[in-house]
Amino acid sequence: MTATDIFKVSILGKESIHCGFHLVPYIAQTVLATLPSSTYVLITDNHVANFHLASFEAEFTSACDKLPQEGRPRFLSRVITPGETTKSREGKADIEDFLLLNKCTRDTVILALGGGVIGDLTGFVAATFMRGVRFVQIPTTLLAMVDSSVGGKTAIDTPHGKNLIGAFWQPEYIFIDAAFLETLPAREFSNGMAEVVKTAAIWNEKEFADLESHSAEIFAAIQTPSTNSAGRIKSTRSAAQELLLSVIVGSISVKAHIVTIDERETGLRNLVNFGHTIGHAIEAVLTPTILHGECVSVGMILEAELSRQMGILGQVGVGRLTRCLKAYNLPVSLSDPRIASLPAAQLLTVERLLDIMKIDKKNSGPQKKIVILSRIGETHEPKATAVADNLIAKTLSEAAKVIPGTPTKNPVHMATPGSKSISNRALVLAALAKGTCRLKNLLHSDDTQVMMTALLELKGASFAWEDGGETLVVHGGEGSLQVPPKGKEIYLGNAGTAARFLTTVCTLVAPSKTDATATVITGNARMKQRPIGPLVDALRANGSDVTYLESQGCLPLSIVPDGLKGSRIQLAASVSSQYVSSILLCAPYASEPVTLELTGGQVISQPYIDMTIAMMKTFGIVVEREVDAETGKLLDVYRIPKGVYENPAQYNIESDASSATYPLAIAAITGTSCTIANIGSESLQGDARFAKEVLEPMGCEVIQTETETTVRGPPVGQLKAIGLIDMEPMTDAFLTASVLAAVAVGAPLEDRELKDADSPTVTRIIGISNQRVKECNRIRAMIDQLAKFGVKTKELDDGLEVYGQPVTELNTGASVHCYDDHRVAMAFSVLGTVVKDTIIEEKRCVEKTWPNWWDDLENKIGLKVEGVELGSADAVASASGTTTQDASASVVIIGMRGSGKTHVGELAATALGWPFVDADTYFGEKENIGVREYVQKHGWSAFRATETEILKELLETRGSKHVLSLGGGIVETPVARDLLKAFTKKGPVVHIVREIDEIVKYLGEETARPAYGEPVTDVFRRREPWFAECCNYEFINYTGVASAVDDFLAAKAERAGADEVARFFNHVTGQQPNLAQNHAPGKRSYFLSLTYPDITPALRHIDDLTAGVDAIELRVDLLRSPKDLGQPGSYIPPAAYVTEQLSALRRSTSLPVVFTVRTVSQGGAFPDKSEKEAFDLLSLAIRLGAEYIDVEVSWPEKFIKDLSSRKGSSHIIASWHDWSGKMKWNEEIVKSKHALASRLGDIIKIVGKANSVQDNFALYDFVSKATSAPNAKPIIAINMGVEGQMSRVLNSTFSPVTHPLLPTKAAPGQLSFAQIQNALHLLGQLPARRHFLFGNPIAHSMSPTLHNTGFEVLGLPHTYELLETSDVGEEIKATLASPDFGGASVTIPYKLDVIPLLDRLSPAAEAIGAVNTIIPIAVDGDQSKRILYGDNTDWLGICESIRSRAPSLGAPRAALVIGAGGTARAAIFALHSLGTQHVYVYNRTPSKAQILVDAFPDAQVELVETLGLWPCGGPSPSVIISTVPASATSTDDTNRDAVFLPSTLFDTSIEGVVVDMAYKPAETPLLALTKRVATKWATVMGVEVLLEQGYVQFEKWTGRRCPKHVVARRVLEKYHGNV
Ligand SMILES: NC(=O)c1ccc[n+]([C@@H]2O[C@H](COP(=O)([O-])OP(=O)(O)OC[C@H]3O[C@@H](n4cnc5c(N)ncnc54)[C@H](O)[C@@H]3O)[C@@H](O)[C@H]2O)c1
Ligand SMILES: [Zn+2]
Repeated sequence: MTATDIFKVSILGKESIHCGFHLVPYIAQTVLATLPSSTYVLITDNHVANFHLASFEAEFTSACDKLPQEGRPRFLSRVITPGETTKSREGKADIEDFLLLNKCTRDTVILALGGGVIGDLTGFVAATFMRGVRFVQIPTTLLAMVDSSVGGKTAIDTPHGKNLIGAFWQPEYIFIDAAFLETLPAREFSNGMAEVVKTAAIWNEKEFADLESHSAEIFAAIQTPSTNSAGRIKSTRSAAQELLLSVIVGSISVKAHIVTIDERETGLRNLVNFGHTIGHAIEAVLTPTILHGECVSVGMILEAELSRQMGILGQVGVGRLTRCLKAYNLPVSLSDPRIASLPAAQLLTVERLLDIMKIDKKNSGPQKKIVILSRIGETHEPKATAVADNLIAKTLSEAAKVIPGTPTKNPVHMATPGSKSISNRALVLAALAKGTCRLKNLLHSDDTQVMMTALLELKGASFAWEDGGETLVVHGGEGSLQVPPKGKEIYLGNAGTAARFLTTVCTLVAPSKTDATATVITGNARMKQRPIGPLVDALRANGSDVTYLESQGCLPLSIVPDGLKGSRIQLAASVSSQYVSSILLCAPYASEPVTLELTGGQVISQPYIDMTIAMMKTFGIVVEREVDAETGKLLDVYRIPKGVYENPAQYNIESDASSATYPLAIAAITGTSCTIANIGSESLQGDARFAKEVLEPMGCEVIQTETETTVRGPPVGQLKAIGLIDMEPMTDAFLTASVLAAVAVGAPLEDRELKDADSPTVTRIIGISNQRVKECNRIRAMIDQLAKFGVKTKELDDGLEVYGQPVTELNTGASVHCYDDHRVAMAFSVLGTVVKDTIIEEKRCVEKTWPNWWDDLENKIGLKVEGVELGSADAVASASGTTTQDASASVVIIGMRGSGKTHVGELAATALGWPFVDADTYFGEKENIGVREYVQKHGWSAFRATETEILKELLETRGSKHVLSLGGGIVETPVARDLLKAFTKKGPVVHIVREIDEIVKYLGEETARPAYGEPVTDVFRRREPWFAECCNYEFINYTGVASAVDDFLAAKAERAGADEVARFFNHVTGQQPNLAQNHAPGKRSYFLSLTYPDITPALRHIDDLTAGVDAIELRVDLLRSPKDLGQPGSYIPPAAYVTEQLSALRRSTSLPVVFTVRTVSQGGAFPDKSEKEAFDLLSLAIRLGAEYIDVEVSWPEKFIKDLSSRKGSSHIIASWHDWSGKMKWNEEIVKSKHALASRLGDIIKIVGKANSVQDNFALYDFVSKATSAPNAKPIIAINMGVEGQMSRVLNSTFSPVTHPLLPTKAAPGQLSFAQIQNALHLLGQLPARRHFLFGNPIAHSMSPTLHNTGFEVLGLPHTYELLETSDVGEEIKATLASPDFGGASVTIPYKLDVIPLLDRLSPAAEAIGAVNTIIPIAVDGDQSKRILYGDNTDWLGICESIRSRAPSLGAPRAALVIGAGGTARAAIFALHSLGTQHVYVYNRTPSKAQILVDAFPDAQVELVETLGLWPCGGPSPSVIISTVPASATSTDDTNRDAVFLPSTLFDTSIEGVVVDMAYKPAETPLLALTKRVATKWATVMGVEVLLEQGYVQFEKWTGRRCPKHVVARRVLEKYHGNV
């Protein structure tokens, strides 16, 4: 056997965990020898296989070969896709199929070689394959080594969550080969370290301390590859390898121990879930981008903070844990840039996290359970602790709120965190001293941490913690220090103070007795740039041998151990006083007494030098500063005697004086008392003067001893203003002073009063200009944040003035922004103790100096603190469909005079059913004078002023449900512009855009309004930008493009104008957004992609092209303006051209438009880098009312959100395209793109490319999973390429389709709408349905032509046939009952007789009392359960005929119906629904007409006795509908058998419509008469009404718009042929 040194760990009573380096031969031999089998199957993933599979194969094969041929075992291997997605049911099935295919039996041994994914999956396969086979774990990631491989938990994921299905199944062996870690990516290593740190944190403080101090070596061990199997045996193992192995073994041992006592996870084993309760919730949101260990790392800190908040764990523990995790490159908060920069990070709301935690396996009932640390290495309970939701929420929330009140701990006694400068000095002093010192109140910071580690490594002192880390016991080494072992560097991270102090300390090291020749100190990359030159120069000049190992003047340094010479030392001290302190601290240990001379002029930070000297005195060494004998001035020369420091038994590290100002200020403001220990009059910190110099003059009682400060505030509300104060000596405390000054209403003390002040309660703080360049510009910060409370301030050059006000007058509910500045946060929390609902937005920024500030506020001062979650504005904008607009807000119309505001406005008012108000008319009525006269009389400026007043009034009094059209010059005044801009937040301000040439032409004829007095074109040019600036929508009111093309389109455009106005205004007001139908589950929707450089030639075919589809896509990136027509490659079309194209399209179809700007990398022609231009076009699209905007998720999220915030009723399609063909639908990338898109869009679009038909199944699978989630958004999922055609057939939302008439397809593999219907039919997804006409006689009916043409054009497999029966009997009943019945039309004489056979009637059918359409409706989507629904589309056909022939008619004032039968009933119903005011009915037999009057009481039908004479002198009708046969009417008054039609029927001065419901002849007497006498009137033939009602029927049966154009052509051809 190959010689291998193994360390064994026992688990569940068996030594089955074998650890070492380079174990592959050992594994092969051990497995073959102890687990005999016929088959060994190794499962691994591609990554691991690349590095390590060959050696396993080689070892196993050669070892097998040594066995007798007879019964020689097989060795098989299976390599699977890496990644969490493989850990699925499918992944499990794949391995099982492999095993079955290879005829593996119960004796098989499975080897899991890989990370946790391989281990969990393979383990679960082993647990169930043949009811369980033996298996071996060979973990290759650190996480798998220390965690997933140990304990026997195996599992797979399902879409419902991770690890939900699995088993406990113990491996026979776990082989831990630490050499595998050499190939592991560093991030994966850190990922595993999170678990290692976790285990130490709950179980073993000593191990934790090792991890804390050895991160650099541990990293080094995996970064330097071991050659020649170094480390396999102990003698070849490096120190680093030894350390790495001991860390892994240590961690495993703990887990193995816990598992052994609690295998099935009943209590104790839960402890290993420390950090995991919150960590898992975070992971659920951020996976797969952020790794498990990284989430757990943040989770550990949050859970530790939770126990700190509960008063169980001290800040020391939280701090150590934080620093330790950081040292392994792990994130420790959600604001870590690796996390915060992710789009998904915004989903990490408190509510969401708590919700996810609900389903934690540890929970019992509703209570959440969390492992609570009591100190490093110990937990609060031997199991997870139940914690209330509100506590967790408080820890998680980003903002905090102090609840005002009297501190319950009054009188408060506390110490604030230790001063950083003093902590660092005390550590060095105590370590260099003789005896033992107990350091109290030491600040736990990076500096102190590395300092201690370094001193340990230099064997300069030893340390121990007492009181759970509150006290540090230092056993001083009397200045004796040793060179660390060769190759061992002292790593200082980025701890500046430590680096400076230790450089001199290292010169004190005694000459080495070992082979180590120098001490090396180094740091991280940032540290290697920080200066140390002046100090090294001084030491070198004094004879020390110090070498720069990398760059000159910076760390790393190599320092030869030869002691410090001493005597005269010269040091340039103008850069940092830390150099001076460094030498001072070490000087007593030099060979000769030191005289330190500071050179280079200005010495900076003298107080810090004084601090060092004062502290040295406490430790027994007195430094003497030289004085100029003549002047008596202090010189920068210090004499330090030789000697040894004496440790005092205890040293209380002074509190940080700046921090102390907050609790003292709380006492002052709440009228209570507070004593801060460890800070008094002896303090060397400037801010220690705050109590005496700020609080006392404000009226507080201050008692300061040498070491303690007590403040008692005056009764609440009685603080005095300070008047003038120079805070130069305590600049950091000015923020605290400012918040107190804000509520100080007493007059300042007499000697401080300011004569020149703006207010008697002024506090003028000066001498603080340095505060502008701190964490933020603190002076501005205070001014801006105080303003939120309503506090008045004034900024000064070197300070500010604050004007005090009574607390009761301050604004409550202010939300304070902290600029990530701890002092801003703490200062405002002082104000929050008296002002209700003050929110401190970034509570975590206190971490810099007082991480447990909020907990101390609660636990030590006794004020309640609540967590607050800020509703982020971002979240609102990104949520789908939310707009700030209010659907009932009025529409405001602006634009040039002559742009068509009145015309468009009136049409809009008709469409919306809202009153139209013309501001000019309103003006005239109100001022009793016309606009023109007013201007002549009062001049333009008076007019503008009044006009603006009137605008204000209109917006106030008619701000809801009105159409307001404003004068063209309204944008001339800034006030009016501001009013308009403000209104865009509430509702639409629509700019009517018309070409200037058309305007000029139009205005030439007009005289009603005042002349401009300047050329119209100049006015136009001036106002254009203002219009653009004031509106949020633009309506294009010119026909230029269309009419330029041909007359046909011009005519069509004319008529379409009204439709377009109705569509546009209904959409932008949100009254009736023009969104696609068929987006509901179970339905299919399509859009046609227009791929022309210029779409206008296609518009004449638009009806044919769009047959069946729900929307039309304008591929803006493919447009080319005429001058660039031939331009290939990427291109940005000009906005004006895009506008023209879109509005031309608009006039041709009312289908919603999908506005797409596809970039080159996503398969389009728009340049990738031109994001701004792209978003300019997308914004334009929203302004123009495009209903769907395609936005690529690869664009900057900021842009997308901004766009989204303005989208109004339009929807965003968030799209992602992969053209490479590499994207696999089962990969994480698709999931993450889907998550991103569903956050940003209303509809998701993901497009891949199919390489085989399989890829479509994968897509289908993905979509099914994605859409089964609650509230899932609709998804467009498509594979490109011919292989992907199937996906286009199966896709259900907005399948992009082409049409045979189009020049090119928008994408390879695109199908037409009809092709897809065919394919769906063949796949059984679209069964053929039969439709019928019931009636008698019906032989000549046009309905079969109508519907069958529609079915044919759309590629639908349905049919329409005649069913002529003698009654409504068995034949009809059987038809209705047949499963393929798709619907029926009903005509005379059965419109009433069918009713008893139906299950339900529409309200219209009910009111009319007749059914002409039967629709079978599936119940809950189940075709086998359906009901028969009776409807009436006759009235809709009538409405539509009137509306489309006379769009501007709106609600007719009066209308006439001739006849009183069933059709007359439909006509009355139609007229009533159009809002007709007077409905007249004429019938030869008046008694029959009377029945109608009674039947429609709401419609207020009036009887007409003589045609041409209207009841009670009412208005003459603008709509006439005849429902009697043509033969029953005549224009001959001698015809006694017919109704005589007089020409007085028509008011020829108005426009009107005549509808004759009679089918035959084509020209009835009524229509002929109309054409003769009323030329302004439109006429509608019976067959046209038939068509209109048929379209509606068709749509009700198929869910698709009828292809009207083709259908009408065929029906009319046939009709005229027949007639
Ligand atoms: N069963 C348990 O008790 C338990 C405990 C913790 C985690 N887990 C599970 O473990 C899984 C995560 O395990 P993981 O972090 O090891 O992830 P992993 O298995 O996905 O491995 C991480 C990555 O490193 C690669 N890799 C592995 N070893 C390598 C090596 N030596 N050299 C180069 N590349 C290498 C892998 O191919 C993969 O890409 C999760 O599914 C988690 O649920 C299970
Ligand atoms: Zn874990």
